[in-house]
Amino acid sequence: MKDLFGNALLDYFNGDFTENIITSTNISEDDELPLAYLFRAYGEMPKLEQKALQLTHGKVLDVGCGAGSHSLYLQEKGFDLKAIDISKGAVEVATKRGVKNVKLNSILEETETFDTILLLMNGTGIFQELTQLPHYLKHLKALLNVDGQILIDSTDINYMFEDDDGGYWQDMHANYYGELDYFLSYKGEEELPMKWLYLDFNTLLTASKAVGLECELVMEGEHFDYLARLFKKN
Ligand SMILES: C[S@@+](CC[C@H](N)C(=O)[O-])C[C@H]1O[C@@H](n2cnc3c(N)ncnc32)[C@H](O)[C@@H]1O
Repeated sequence: MKDLFGNALLDYFNGDFTENIITSTNISEDDELPLAYLFRAYGEMPKLEQKALQLTHGKVLDVGCGAGSHSLYLQEKGFDLKAIDISKGAVEVATKRGVKNVKLNSILEETETFDTILLLMNGTGIFQELTQLPHYLKHLKALLNVDGQILIDSTDINYMFEDDDGGYWQDMHANYYGELDYFLSYKGEEELPMKWLYLDFNTLLTASKAVGLECELVMEGEHFDYLARLFKKN
């Protein structure tokens, strides 16, 4: 990873903003990801994210914290919080913004236990592929304290395959439709291609049950997005 995402966060934080990140996928054209959005305050967050922050309790892990916007809000509310990210630049920015406990860590390297684990801004993306989902869910389950919860958002991207006549053009022989190849570029340089997993709620529910996690739909967003809450059966 070249960490162009982290470089962009650093530029924005240092007041050197000149342009936004450009993203695209194997099924969609170039799209701008406004850097300012990654520095959003509570009032600028989507309702789903605000809801996740309201439901947060106990010791918190913010997975893929980025610039640390959710962490900062919770830290100011007095939560005992740890933030992790695999982007060196993101860790630096979150730290410089004031998040006290930020570590350069992949979720799979995490060993502490928590009462609330947050994965926000299409948090299922971190799982990359459907085949990896059980592995990640089992690991996340092992990081939960008794009565702990995982708050995660995602989007059912089925709508992206709808044609003008209302029909769907998915290739029945292809992998799960939410598995995308994700491309990112910044200042003309291209990041190494990544995999990003969008999950419909029922697929998340089935996979959660298979590893012994309850999964409830907390809230639906405005564009096929949703917030789910996963917890261990008593
Ligand atoms: C879409 S960004 C979301 C950032 C932040 N949560 C937000 O809402 O602004 C996803 C973040 O997850 C991080 N990430 C990706 N895979 C990860 C992993 N396996 N463990 C921890 N962080 C990861 C990326 O570096 C990136 O900062």
